[in-house]
Amino acid sequence: MHFGDAKAPAGLWHSQNVRVIFSLILSPFSPMGSVNRKNIFITGAAGFIGFHLASRLQAIGHHVIGYDNFNAYYNPALKRRRALMLEAEGIKIVEGDICDMPLLQQCIEKHQTTHLIHLAAQAGVRYSIDNPQAYVKANLEGFVNILESCRRNVDMKLIYASSSSVYGLNEKVPFAESDRTDHQASLYGATKKTNELLAGVYHHLYGIPVTGLRFFTVYGPWGRPDMAYFSFTQAILAGKPIDVFNEGELLRDFTYIDDIIDGTAAAIELGAKCEIFNLGHHQPVKLLDFIATLEETLGRKAIMRYRPMQAGDVIKTYAEITHSAEKLQFAPKISLKEGLARFVAWRQQCNNDEIF
Ligand SMILES: NC(=O)c1ccc[n+]([C@@H]2O[C@H](COP(=O)([O-])OP(=O)(O)OC[C@H]3O[C@@H](n4cnc5c(N)ncnc54)[C@H](O)[C@@H]3O)[C@@H](O)[C@H]2O)c1
Repeated sequence: MHFGDAKAPAGLWHSQNVRVIFSLILSPFSPMGSVNRKNIFITGAAGFIGFHLASRLQAIGHHVIGYDNFNAYYNPALKRRRALMLEAEGIKIVEGDICDMPLLQQCIEKHQTTHLIHLAAQAGVRYSIDNPQAYVKANLEGFVNILESCRRNVDMKLIYASSSSVYGLNEKVPFAESDRTDHQASLYGATKKTNELLAGVYHHLYGIPVTGLRFFTVYGPWGRPDMAYFSFTQAILAGKPIDVFNEGELLRDFTYIDDIIDGTAAAIELGAKCEIFNLGHHQPVKLLDFIATLEETLGRKAIMRYRPMQAGDVIKTYAEITHSAEKLQFAPKISLKEGLARFVAWRQQCNNDEIF
């Protein structure tokens, strides 16, 4: 499912009905009629991935609550809009910080949480060069709070967002979960790698079930304006130049949001003891080919400004997905061409909107 209706709440009617129908098709009731309803708590629910995940899980009948601090890393109006849409679907979003341990703990317990999906983080590789403390705060201090909450509720399952960034400077492709990840290229990647290590420690010490998901360059409607696919689209539509790093000699495994949500929902169902999964398209695309596809979709040419390689960036990302396919039946379905067409259609619907 993807959300095309940009003008909430007017556009909500259609999407809500679509979701009601969707929920009837994908009910979490077992064939024998017993209920498998989970109480799911999502941090970062007003973010790009959290928004889509919350909506999907609620639509299939789970009881979802969101938690987000609506920070200004990118326009909070976009986060507020997503939250408004979720609230219209009956999902409560608590405004709070994961570093506020008493509030976090209180909300998790009040919701009788069975599954904690931790997506809140300071994202972005390039921003970490100039703003290291933001990553230390949200991704390290905040993550330990998440683990401590799990320690106080040991039956609760933790599913958390890691990143393809943990593969850092690895040369062997595709990147497999069993590869060593000792050579980080950015502070962001290092915090995500640390999350995996800490989750392993809490599993070892307290038996907490932990699943880490290494997301690969996620894109789609309601996406993040700081990401290249989004800022390129904005610039091309405005006739402004785009910065093309490393002469366009970069490879990215772009993964459409619905495929990521399928993989994440499957990981929640699996409830593994201690696992890490790659969630990526397994079809890396050269940056220049990506730009050509975007130009074709927009029907406009980009003005390219070639730039050297940026500090913290990596040359390529490419997901090995055998493990995810086996255990999560993960099988990405949306091609880059189709995914970009959906993204651009959504972006054009909110042309004069002030949410970016
Ligand atoms: N989008 C991608 O391509 C991608 C790739 C790899 C990993 N990830 C990871 O997936 C997760 C979700 O990413 P996204 O693209 O939806 O990003 P996002 O920035 O849109 O969402 C993150 C949300 O977390 C919230 N948040 C940040 N710090 C918080 C704090 N201290 N307390 C409470 N809320 C806080 C933000 O307000 C935001 O709404 C992140 O952990 C990110 O690192 C994303």
